Amino acid sequence: MQKLFIKGKKKLSGSILISGSKNAALPILAATILGKKVKISNIPLVKDVFTMVTLLKSIGSKIKVDKKKNFLEIINKKKLKTIAPYKLVKTMRAGVLVLGPLLAKYKKAKVSLPGGCAIGTRPVDLHLFALKKLGAKIKIKNGYIYASANNGLKGNKIKFPSISVGATENAVIAAVQAKGKTILLNCAIEPEIMDLISFLKKMGCTIKTKNRTIFIEGIFKPKDITYNVMFDRIEAGTYLIASALIGKKITLLKLKPDIIKTEIDILKKMGIKIKVNHNKIVVYQSSKIKKINLLTSPYPGFPTDLQAQIMVLMTKANGTSSIKENIFENRFMHVPELKRMGAKIDIKNNTAFVKGPTNLSGAEVMATDLRASVSLVLAALIADNKTTINRIYHLDRGYEKLEGKLKKCKAIIKRI
Ligand code: EPZ
Repeated sequence: MQKLFIKGKKKLSGSILISGSKNAALPILAATILGKKVKISNIPLVKDVFTMVTLLKSIGSKIKVDKKKNFLEIINKKKLKTIAPYKLVKTMRAGVLVLGPLLAKYKKAKVSLPGGCAIGTRPVDLHLFALKKLGAKIKIKNGYIYASANNGLKGNKIKFPSISVGATENAVIAAVQAKGKTILLNCAIEPEIMDLISFLKKMGCTIKTKNRTIFIEGIFKPKDITYNVMFDRIEAGTYLIASALIGKKITLLKLKPDIIKTEIDILKKMGIKIKVNHNKIVVYQSSKIKKINLLTSPYPGFPTDLQAQIMVLMTKANGTSSIKENIFENRFMHVPELKRMGAKIDIKNNTAFVKGPTNLSGAEVMATDLRASVSLVLAALIADNKTTINRIYHLDRGYEKLEGKLKKCKAIIKRI
């Protein structure tokens, strides 16, 4: 198993190119099932994307990946298989996103239940609720979802009982091939969902959005298209926080700052010096970091995927900060590891109270999930001495060229 070795307290300066969004690429790749010939650029070369490519190849898609150009081409000539096996879906929950398109295109699908992961049980009841409303018959047997719609899916008015990114995505990708009108209410409106919608519209779908409502006019004839995936706003947020922690002057490029306005405003409130223009962000060395009380919520609120990262910045703030995790039931797995590095964090119910300023010291630590692992990287960058991070395959699921990007900004970091 690979490890990351980081020597802390080295000031960073330079520029960081933000990669394409993993969480936009995954639903878009699933939606290519509806198409015949699709080219996608700005694809992040991260493990979860390769797992989704493997899954699509396993059902019969012909896929060519050009790693040099972050580009892939998918050709669906013949009828695809309608099964997503456990061995692929268990490693990457987003595999459940092939359920909607397979059902919509072939009137049936057998997809493994994704199962839980480190941050929570991660049920898919909302996905199944929406597909049933579109006329699907759903059965769960031996850990698989058996879905069928012999006369095809039919448009309907569907109000989600609670906000779910994946369930919204599955419903949208299914409804574009359901007969007639669909109205989805109380949807998630993450930028990655908007990117999926603009991909589908480019393929020829009729979709409109208004606040948390999505209007879809079903059945469309798919066009062959090329699509450029949006930037990864969570990667951008991660490097914003890294720059606030230990940057002298860091420039983030290839991103749209207005999409991460919430994060930028929060960092400014904490006293971080940030200069923003239309396609880049410059972060300057900040001395006094102010404490803050935050809670995670669906977009446009503060993202749960940055909760672990901002907690590291809170260790440097003057006073006690807090962050309430409202999305997942067990997303504080990074806390015990940060405490081993000297962080003073107490958890009450689903709120973490972080005392600052606290000096962190290097240690041998273990990654548990994607965003927890990157919070350990951030902690290691500001800690005394050396830190070794184990199980960094979690990192490789969602951060492209992390060591390279940090090394380019003078970090002392290497993979061993
Ligand atoms: C997406 O996961 C992201 N993954 C997650 O990012 C992100 O943390 C999450 O949205 C929230 O923003 C991808 O886009 C691939 P949800 P998803 O459905 O769709 C509960 C990362 O680090 N729920 O919005 O699974 C669920 O348990 C990953 O890149 C149900 O109860 O998130 C959670 O508590 C981690 N029933 C809440 O809703 C369901 O059917 C939000 O989950 C579905 C979800």
